[in-house]
Amino acid sequence: MLESLCAWLEKTPLSAGVQNVGWIIPASQIVHILCLAAVLFSALSIDLRVLGVGARRTSLDGMAAHFLPWIWTAVPLMAVTGAILIIGEPRRDLLNPVFQTKMLLLICALAATLGIQSIVRRAAADRPGWPLRALAVGSLAFWFGIAVCGRLIAYAT
Ligand code: HEM
Repeated sequence: MLESLCAWLEKTPLSAGVQNVGWIIPASQIVHILCLAAVLFSALSIDLRVLGVGARRTSLDGMAAHFLPWIWTAVPLMAVTGAILIIGEPRRDLLNPVFQTKMLLLICALAATLGIQSIVRRAAADRPGWPLRALAVGSLAFWFGIAVCGRLIAYAT
């Protein structure tokens, strides 16, 4: 099924446009990588605060209120720029096991972030219990795993 999706996608005028208009791929890569910085910095700030490392003078819900909007803004932008890169070279990404792993990790990272958001909003507790701590550890592993997979896609084509 993925194979036929790629075969169809690469013959569309949209795919030809992405490949032939010189600035589209570099511009998408630049936006993707700037958003990556925003996501990783925000996730790191929230997760380390949950784990009691640094920023102790700022409340947990204050940290979450400050950094979560960055994540919820940057991830959709990454989805759009990532989709543009996929449209340009569908086989390189969609059939690539490293890309597929990245997408699986993305689902896990989004679930962990939603979990953190809901616990922090509900409890507004400044003494995080084990579920919140476990989510913070998971979130760190998932977001950084996604970044590693993103870079490794190029080597697994
Ligand atoms: C939201 C959905 C996302 C999609 C659809 C997507 C898709 C892509 C695609 C197609 C590439 C190009 C891979 C290649 O052909 O070499 C890429 C690169 C990359 N992505 Fe994503 N991505 C997404 C989210 C993320 C997130 C959340 C992160 C990090 C937290 C991330 C990190 C990276 C990195 C580090 C690269 C390599 C950039 C480079 O070396 O130029 N991506 N992504």
